[in-house]
Amino acid sequence: MSRIHEALKRAEEQRPPSWKPAEPTPLRFGGERLAPGVLQPSLQQEMPTARRCLGLEELRRRCLKPGWKLNADYDVFSTKQSSALCAEEFRTLRSRLYRLREKSPIRTLLVTSTLPGEGKTFVALNLALAIARQPERRALVIDADLRASRLHVRLGAPSAPGLSDYLNGRADEYSIIQADPKVELFLVPAGRPVHNPSELLGNGLLRDFLHGMSPIFDWVIVDAPPVLALADAGIVAEFCDGVIVVVRAGQTSHDLVKTTLQEFRGINLLGVVLNGANLEANYSSYSGYAGVGMDKK
Ligand SMILES: Nc1ncnc2c1ncn2[C@@H]1O[C@H](COP(=O)(O)OP(=O)(O)OP(=O)(O)O)[C@@H](O)[C@H]1O
Ligand SMILES: [Mg+2]
Repeated sequence: MSRIHEALKRAEEQRPPSWKPAEPTPLRFGGERLAPGVLQPSLQQEMPTARRCLGLEELRRRCLKPGWKLNADYDVFSTKQSSALCAEEFRTLRSRLYRLREKSPIRTLLVTSTLPGEGKTFVALNLALAIARQPERRALVIDADLRASRLHVRLGAPSAPGLSDYLNGRADEYSIIQADPKVELFLVPAGRPVHNPSELLGNGLLRDFLHGMSPIFDWVIVDAPPVLALADAGIVAEFCDGVIVVVRAGQTSHDLVKTTLQEFRGINLLGVVLNGANLEANYSSYSGYAGVGMDKK
C-alpha cells in the first residue's frame, strides 16, 4: 500500500462523523478571525447574493483557447521515463480522493504548504492532469497565488485576464477561463498583479465563483500561496471542501508543519502530500523525479 493510500485512509478514519465539507465555515474573512459560523454583519452586506450557474457548453464556447505549450519538465505524465513512478503516485492520489468523495461531497480542493517552494503548484497541476486524463472527466485548476503566480508559466498559457481581474470586477467568468482542445483541463490564471491579494480573495466573489464552477467540473483545484505569514490560503480554504498540505521531504521543520496543519485540522484538512520523498529504495526503475507520497496528518 502506498504512502498516499495510507495517509488518505488515515484522514478518512480520523474525520469526525459529523464532518460536512460542502458548506464553507467562515472562520476568517478579509484576514480577520471570526467566531465559527458567524459573519460580521458589515461583511455580510458586502457579499454578493447572486450565485451564477454556468453551463458547460456555453463555457466551452466562450472561454479562451490560447493554445498552451505545456512544459514537459513539469508534467509527470509526459513520456519521460523518469517521471513514470511519480505519475503512478498521482494516479493513486487521484483514486484516493474519489474514495473520499464516496463518503463526503468534496469537489473543490485547496493545495497549500507551510513555506514557499514546497511543490504546491507541481502537485496542483499534476493532480489536475491526472484527473483530466481520464475519459469523460474535467478538471479546473485555479491560480490563487496572486503574489507569485506560476501555473500559467508551467502550462505555457497567458497570465491574464485571470482571477485578480475577475475579483476586481474587470473581467467576467468566461474571459478568465482558458481551455485546451487536447486535454479536459481548464485554467484560471492569476491575472494582473495587484497590491491587495488578501482583500480580493476574501471579497466574496471567489466564494461564489467556486460555487458556480463546482457542478461543471469533476474537481476544482486551487493552487494557493504558502500559509506562513500570509492570510491568503486560510481565506480561500474557507470556500473549499478540502485542503491538501504539501510538505517537501527533508526541508520543512516538524514544528512548522504542525502549525500549518493546526490551521485546517477539524475544518477541512484532507491530508498531507509528502513531496520529494526518496522512492529510489523501493523502486529500481526510478531515476529522475523526486517522488510524491503521503505522510500522516
Ligand atoms: N516532486 C518533485 N520532483 C521534481 N521537481 C519538483 C517536485 N516538486 C517540485 N519540484 C520543483 O521544485 C520547484 C518548486 O516547486 P513549485 O513551484 O511547485 O513550488 P510551490 O510550493 O508552488 O512554490 P511557491 O511557494 O513559490 O508557489 C519547481 O521547479 C518544481 O518543478
Ligand atoms: Mg506555487
